[in-house]
Amino acid sequence: MSTVLKNFPVPLVRLRRLRRNPFLRDLLRETTLTVNDLIFPVFLKTGHGIKKPIVSMPGHFQWSLDCLDEILAIVSQNKIPGVILFGVLDPEQKDEYGSQALKEDGLVQSAIRYIKSHAPEILLIADLCFCQYTSHGHCGVITKKENSRNGLIEIDNDRTLTLLAEQAVSLARAGADMIAPSGMMDGMIAVIRQALDLASFQPVALLSYAAKYASAFYGPFADAAHGAPQFGDRSTHQMDPGNGSRALRECALDIQEGADLLMVKPAGYYLDVIYRIKHAFPGVPLAAYQVSGEFAMMKAAVERGCLNEKRVILESLLSIKRAGADFIITYFAVDAALLLK
Ligand code: PBG
Ligand code: ZN
Repeated sequence: MSTVLKNFPVPLVRLRRLRRNPFLRDLLRETTLTVNDLIFPVFLKTGHGIKKPIVSMPGHFQWSLDCLDEILAIVSQNKIPGVILFGVLDPEQKDEYGSQALKEDGLVQSAIRYIKSHAPEILLIADLCFCQYTSHGHCGVITKKENSRNGLIEIDNDRTLTLLAEQAVSLARAGADMIAPSGMMDGMIAVIRQALDLASFQPVALLSYAAKYASAFYGPFADAAHGAPQFGDRSTHQMDPGNGSRALRECALDIQEGADLLMVKPAGYYLDVIYRIKHAFPGVPLAAYQVSGEFAMMKAAVERGCLNEKRVILESLLSIKRAGADFIITYFAVDAALLLK
């Protein structure tokens, strides 16, 4: 038989009072998500008439420049503030140094010029690295690969810096509003800032991928951008997933070198890192990148009927903001913008 409770302690404080109806919940929500928080990643491809589906990322495509209007219209109509651009080359366009990345009429440079003249309202962020352009798939100049079977490769940090500076200037010259160095080379922010300033691109902002982890969650991106390393991995430059405090040091250094904004990547499994950076450097705008693997995982679960798509999109993004991100680079930007309307 059921116990009859007598004189049990009646709750004096009832937090449920403030959750009773949607008006109260909407009024009292601490964190909100709006379309202004979202940046959409766009993959560019050389060629004509190309809108090639990315198998591992349902709903995403590689676009040739002549097809870009379609995606630009979607971004503009939904009032998404900006896009981040990635170039995807065919293997025969790549070489040891990634020289295609430096060309004035390179893929990303041409796309920037096109977008600036056709959709000037869209903020243009250019990802800056070499891994999509080098034949070996690494983020810079390789000096040694005899140890490659052990995953040990040697990227020549300082030779890579001069090439990064060169690529940055060519992206700025094309019209990029913001440049996002993603290669985790030591000293990259200082060198790129100096090169941009010398070339009179003082207004171009640097969004540093300051706390970028050597993560398994970039898997589908490698498929999207043909960017997987041919040998070895990225763990000699990207951060070890076991380190949190080290992210603060990376950020402090990048701020000192002249970074205007910082980024944490991936986002959903690194909310503690986002939180700590925001609290350590409250005045520095902080981005978070909800990466390809996070997107693909949620998509797959939705396709299998395990998760409600609308709810996981909004909850995953809201959580990243709650942790402290000011804005989010996400493959869900268009879906979220539609849901937030
Ligand atoms: C490097 C770059 C990568 C991503 C963004 N910029 C790949 C990597 O570092 O291995 C990953 C983004 C994603 O997984 O969505 N240019
Ligand atoms: Zn890279």
